[in-house]
Amino acid sequence: MIKWTKKNCFTVDGVEFKAIPLGLGNQQSTPERFIFQKSLWVVERYEKLISQLKPKAIFELGIWCGGSAVFFQRLAQAKKLVTLDITEQRVEALDQYIEANQLHNTLKPFYGVDQGDVARLRQIVRDEFDDGMLDLVIDDASHFVDQTRNSFNALFPLVKPGGVFVIEDWSWAHGKHDGPEDFAAFYPNHAPLTTLIFEIILACPSTGDYIEKIEIDKNSATIWRGTAPIKADDFDIAQCCLSRGRALLAQQEDDVCV
Ligand SMILES: C[S@@+](CC[C@H](N)C(=O)[O-])C[C@H]1O[C@@H](n2cnc3c(N)ncnc32)[C@H](O)[C@@H]1O
Repeated sequence: MIKWTKKNCFTVDGVEFKAIPLGLGNQQSTPERFIFQKSLWVVERYEKLISQLKPKAIFELGIWCGGSAVFFQRLAQAKKLVTLDITEQRVEALDQYIEANQLHNTLKPFYGVDQGDVARLRQIVRDEFDDGMLDLVIDDASHFVDQTRNSFNALFPLVKPGGVFVIEDWSWAHGKHDGPEDFAAFYPNHAPLTTLIFEIILACPSTGDYIEKIEIDKNSATIWRGTAPIKADDFDIAQCCLSRGRALLAQQEDDVCV
């Protein structure tokens, strides 16, 4: 349970978190206080989601200062939480927290892993989760289309029916929400992540019951897994929309390339 102590600080079971909307400045977590890159309303949205879903098997992408991994593990009392980052540099405070709380088998960070590496992600799930299935995936890593799509293709088929896949910051090319005035100035050489969000929306009716529903807010797309089994090996969300949706995506791709 979250207890707010200041406007942007809160505790979960005695561990303090400082939430900041963007990863600005040279912030460092300590084992007593973890830095966490989320807006306050997003923290509250996760509190509701966790209390509804009660996830025990969680896969997070994007460690940064380690705060979100500790937050999800503590709030959900997860049986297993894996988190990964492309950075090789370990987060010392996270290692100290794992050691102090004897969480070696519960909270497992992987460094130097690219979220776009489908085979590696699937191998990690096979190695780390008893039944090879997940309740909750949170993708807060690159926010680039190809890498994020690869992670979705790798992990969404492994989400249990009724489970959830969250893609954070899908709107970086469009919104002004908690960031600077001109979000479009971010990543000028990258296609908006919106392309992937459109693919997922169009796949929802096209695939029958791969996807139960999608909730979109200005920060995240929350995708609820339906009951139809997905053949993991060749799953590609970009190939999952029926023809009339495909024409809409082709138009979108043309716009990006101009
Ligand atoms: C927005 S930060 C994560 C914030 C953290 N989840 C939190 O809430 O405090 C994004 C992280 O993704 C990592 N990242 C960027 N590209 C990546 C990639 N291709 N694969 C894995 N991690 C990546 C960055 O190194 C960075 O630590």
